[in-house]
Amino acid sequence: MKRQLKNPFLLAGYYGKEYFCDREDELAALEDHFDNERNVVLYSWRRFGKTALVQHFMAHLEEQKKAETIYIDLLGTRTIDDAILNITRAIYSKYGKVNSGISAKIVKLISAIGLDLSFDPNTGIPSISFGVKKENSMPEKSLEALGSFLQQRKNVVLIALDEFQQIKHYPKQNGEAVFRAWMQQFPDIRFIFCGSHRNMMQSMFAEKSRPFYQSAQLLQLGPIGKIKYELFIKQHFQEHKKDIGSDVVEQMYIWSREQTYCIQLVCNRLFGIYNRVEVKHLQQVFDAILNEESAVFSNYTNLLTHTQWRVLQAIAKEEPLRTPTAKEFIQKYNLGATSSVSTALNKLMETEIVIKDEDKYLVHEVLLARWLQSL
Ligand SMILES: Nc1ncnc2c1ncn2[C@@H]1O[C@H](COP(=O)(O)OP(=O)(O)O)[C@@H](O)[C@H]1O
Ligand SMILES: [Mg+2]
Repeated sequence: MKRQLKNPFLLAGYYGKEYFCDREDELAALEDHFDNERNVVLYSWRRFGKTALVQHFMAHLEEQKKAETIYIDLLGTRTIDDAILNITRAIYSKYGKVNSGISAKIVKLISAIGLDLSFDPNTGIPSISFGVKKENSMPEKSLEALGSFLQQRKNVVLIALDEFQQIKHYPKQNGEAVFRAWMQQFPDIRFIFCGSHRNMMQSMFAEKSRPFYQSAQLLQLGPIGKIKYELFIKQHFQEHKKDIGSDVVEQMYIWSREQTYCIQLVCNRLFGIYNRVEVKHLQQVFDAILNEESAVFSNYTNLLTHTQWRVLQAIAKEEPLRTPTAKEFIQKYNLGATSSVSTALNKLMETEIVIKDEDKYLVHEVLLARWLQSL
């Protein structure tokens, strides 16, 4: 049994249905794709809830005994070997332990890939690594061995590869082609690819020349609707004999620009401090949050050129900005030549510090935007 959380507003990951708001349509869509043997690409702007949704879906499939699920985070992986290592570790933690100790099949699998399995002599914690062998010369073969193992499971296996856009940065091998071949080689395994880099994920899966073209269904994750979110928030406050007004929810929803993480963060704070939340309490919480982040945000000044910084700040202050090259905008913020504004903007968009959401240019991180606005 999981313990009950003291604060029901989670700031990381997934902790069961009770703390998870809505996403019924998305869950139904994921299940429909799964039931019809389709692979899925799930994408959204940062911190809208992809990882939590995938974990929620996996928990659902496990509960229904419809699938065995494996979650792999590719964040921080820099090569295909890193990815293979993460996949192997995930498979080990799922299937490695059997009643008689360590599964012989898994041990065989690990050594077939050329990985070393060792145990910390003090803690007994297993560790899997490439050992002395520096590089895996045949990642395709390793993936094949891993896929064959998973295919032999009695139940269907669903693999979720989170932060999948990371494969674009793998040197040498074409990560896209390698994973596409893997997916095709094992049509019985279901895949969900998650990525926060919306444009990149879209082009990876939808451009004709790209290996993943038309091989998976695109599913975009938007914000959680206000009505559902409000019910969820109020219900959790009430369960703890606390109270929060609709007007407060309304304002925090706007301030958070509908971003799930930001809403959770504000709720978490309010819940921790007040029994009856009123609108007048919001500003204090907003200020406290921005205050804590300011050290990190100030660092942006070192990472950006002077013009980029000025443009970024102007975009935040003008939110929502529609025409960044308009004379009025450039003059209002005294940004200089149109061409240098364009160059700076392109750079900011390349790194996704600034995004274009439909026709609006926005500072991607909501908290960074709010902080820039406060300067
Ligand atoms: N449906 C939801 N209900 C409640 N909290 C959620 C929900 N979806 C996400 N969260 C929370 O919002 C934050 C961001 O979600 P996450 O899944 O990490 O976003 P992403 O993977 O899109 O960057 C996390 O703290 C997570 O716990
Ligand atoms: Mg995530």
